[in-house]
Amino acid sequence: MNCTQYIQSITANFNPKIALVLGSGLGEFADSIEKIAEISYDKLEGFPISAVKGHAGKLILGFVGGTQVIAMQGRVHYYENAQVEAMKTPIHCFKELGCELIILTNAAGSLDTNAGPGSVMVINDYINFTGVSPLFSETGNQRFVNMVNAYDKKLRQKIHRIAEDNNIHLSKGVYAWMCGPQFETPAEINAIRILGANAAGMSTVPETIIARQQEMKVLALSVITNYAAGMDDGELSHEQTMKYANKAASNFKTILTEFIKSTS
Ligand code: HPA
Repeated sequence: MNCTQYIQSITANFNPKIALVLGSGLGEFADSIEKIAEISYDKLEGFPISAVKGHAGKLILGFVGGTQVIAMQGRVHYYENAQVEAMKTPIHCFKELGCELIILTNAAGSLDTNAGPGSVMVINDYINFTGVSPLFSETGNQRFVNMVNAYDKKLRQKIHRIAEDNNIHLSKGVYAWMCGPQFETPAEINAIRILGANAAGMSTVPETIIARQQEMKVLALSVITNYAAGMDDGELSHEQTMKYANKAASNFKTILTEFIKSTS
């Protein structure tokens, strides 16, 4: 049984239109989902398992504010095994289940002094600094995916309105996908600032490309866990990423819950 059939076999009448990918330290949002079922990735053929701390490795099916969602609590990164296409299976599965929108989340370092640790940023565009694509080795014209408006403009406007209504500061900007797993050098951060980046991170872009090829809408949120390398005296670490992801958890939860509610 493939992963889509397996999910369908244990959940009758469950037809989520929204898929969520919960990144580093954001798995906590999963606790607020009213659960119908939880499936460990090892039961789902082709679902890649992340070994990074803070990535649980479970698929959660349930409700957020009355709306059905399917959520990945944890995701694999390109830097874990250099398999850039690893997220294809989950995203193709969500498409097969009928999802029309995927909400991607991540932890990122900020290049903007007015968007500090603990804040949330809506990604309005990306720059791929890795030189790789999840569509490598595909054939046919389907591989030439349009990336203009990759992050749906109307949905971005909507989430900004929701943040404003809830008195939450929500910044916006360009996300630079860096290969990792090492953090950037200050020189790299200076370089990408000149090129137009507002945040740096190690995920989300491959998922965006795969989802757009599948004609799903994409909304992406970065939780800012630190100022990027060289911007302050601090040393970057995964522990810091986890700490500040937790700090932003409450605002992140409010924005995301209200946004999902508003889609039904
Ligand atoms: N750079 C890349 N990825 C990150 C960072 C960063 O500064 N913070 C959290 N994830």
